[in-house]
Amino acid sequence: MDLVKFYRLLKKVILRGKGKKEKNSFKGKITNIPEHVAIIMDGNGRWAKAQGKPRIYGHSHGVDRIRPIIEVATRIGIKCISFYAFSKENWNRPKGEVDFLMKLLENYLNNEQETFLNSRSLLKVIGDISMLSEDIQCKIRTFEELLKEKIKEPKIMVNLAVSYGGKDEIVRSVNKCISREIEKKDKNIFITEDMIEANLDNPWYPKIDLMIRTSGEERISNFMLWQLAYSELYFSEVLWPDFSEEDFIKAIEIYSRRNRRFGTL
Ligand code: IPE
Ligand code: IPE
Ligand code: MG
Repeated sequence: MDLVKFYRLLKKVILRGKGKKEKNSFKGKITNIPEHVAIIMDGNGRWAKAQGKPRIYGHSHGVDRIRPIIEVATRIGIKCISFYAFSKENWNRPKGEVDFLMKLLENYLNNEQETFLNSRSLLKVIGDISMLSEDIQCKIRTFEELLKEKIKEPKIMVNLAVSYGGKDEIVRSVNKCISREIEKKDKNIFITEDMIEANLDNPWYPKIDLMIRTSGEERISNFMLWQLAYSELYFSEVLWPDFSEEDFIKAIEIYSRRNRRFGTL
């Protein structure tokens, strides 16, 4: 399909709202929509600073961008979307900021259940959640289980990376593989790529097609290293609290023009 037409069509899908008709007429016309998009939501602090506000102000506004981006992703047929919310390295930030981010996570878990249920979205929190408070861990489990139980035909899977490190996830996966092998009482422990993949925090959509990072930084910062092995990367200058549905679609449009080769000719 002509790219200009593609972009216009995407815009129409957004602007016309969420009618079933538009959704169906859109589906099937675009063949190269990414299945799994991952986003490094960066730039909250700089966004706040630019307005003379404390960094936490940027984090609050950043959270508000998650819901509309999930909505537009669902509408264009993306199957899985991953958000980097808090890295393992982010624990080293000042206590006040970390506490505030934990409170935001708690509020998100308290407030978003209806939205996830109504939009038939599943949630999976990935990362070393053992570092979170017992209370938040419990809220995460309840949230995830409720959605799994109530949603029979999910439209999208949302990964929220919290206390997350890509290297850490791989190491934890390898350790799970080893424990399972030891249980089998087999003397020769042999770990394969498939085994590591099957023991990642969320093994359902292991490959990321498109990774977006906002705020002009061009690095991975220990995000989903395994899953990013063959992803297309897209860096936006926009700071995360300003990242709009149109910005997201622009990234999808650019992705759709890329030629992925996976090592072949
Ligand atoms: C991203 O925004 C959110 C988290 C890392 C929690 P930052 O807080 O990194 O914002 P900048 O990069 O300092 O602007
Ligand atoms: C990466 O952003 C983590 C999140 C967006 C949650 P950072 O702002 O922490 O990354 P660096 O320090 O700039 O690499
Ligand atoms: Mg940052």
